[in-house]
Amino acid sequence: MKKILVVQGGGRPNGNTAQLVSSFVKGAEESGHSVETVSLVKNEVKGCLGCNACRYGKPCVQKDSFNDLVPKIKAADCIVFASPLYFWMVSSRLKAFIERFYCIAEEDMAPPLGRYEKYPIKDCALLMTSADDFFWTFEQAVSYYRFALVNYIGFNDRGMVLAGGCGDTNGKPRIDETSHLRTAYEFGKNIYPAQ
Ligand SMILES: Cc1cc2nc3c(=O)[nH]c(=O)nc-3n(C[C@H](O)[C@H](O)[C@H](O)COP(=O)(O)O)c2cc1C
Repeated sequence: MKKILVVQGGGRPNGNTAQLVSSFVKGAEESGHSVETVSLVKNEVKGCLGCNACRYGKPCVQKDSFNDLVPKIKAADCIVFASPLYFWMVSSRLKAFIERFYCIAEEDMAPPLGRYEKYPIKDCALLMTSADDFFWTFEQAVSYYRFALVNYIGFNDRGMVLAGGCGDTNGKPRIDETSHLRTAYEFGKNIYPAQ
């Protein structure tokens, strides 16, 4: 059984992303994992200021929800990053959350190429929704995920569900008209092979 933390960067309470997350969570819980979902709307996390106080042994100067999330991040085996696609990227809420990993990094005396700090290493996954459904729709968001979270921080990718064609936000969420909820459920169920 794994501890999975889902960080939800979407804004609509029962929107496409929230529904994608619910299906994933249902599958993961059915496979015996313990899953907690944190909404970045209910738990505001601001972007890093780059003040570098954290590099001098001080806590982050920003007093927001990130501090409450640190124990959850450290305890999790897997962090699932969930977001609608906004201007071909993850939402600014999710980006801000990722920036704040800076303050939980530790100095690495022998950094491998391209990496300057040590992070708590987790498994990770990506859940995204969008209006469009072109072959390149998620290109930049996936590139960012792979580059920043997997290659740089060093997380172990467990996979992703890229749910294109869910309709725009000027109307009701349409993800229930697609096969993505089923895919997310199966992904949650099988994210770790049965022991
Ligand atoms: C500010 C904003 C920017 C968006 N940018 C894109 C985009 O670049 N490409 C796209 O396909 N859809 C875009 N969309 C549509 C959303 O990604 C899509 O409707 C998503 O499923 C909404 O998720 P939600 O229902 O969880 O809020 C955008 C929507 C908003 C509000």
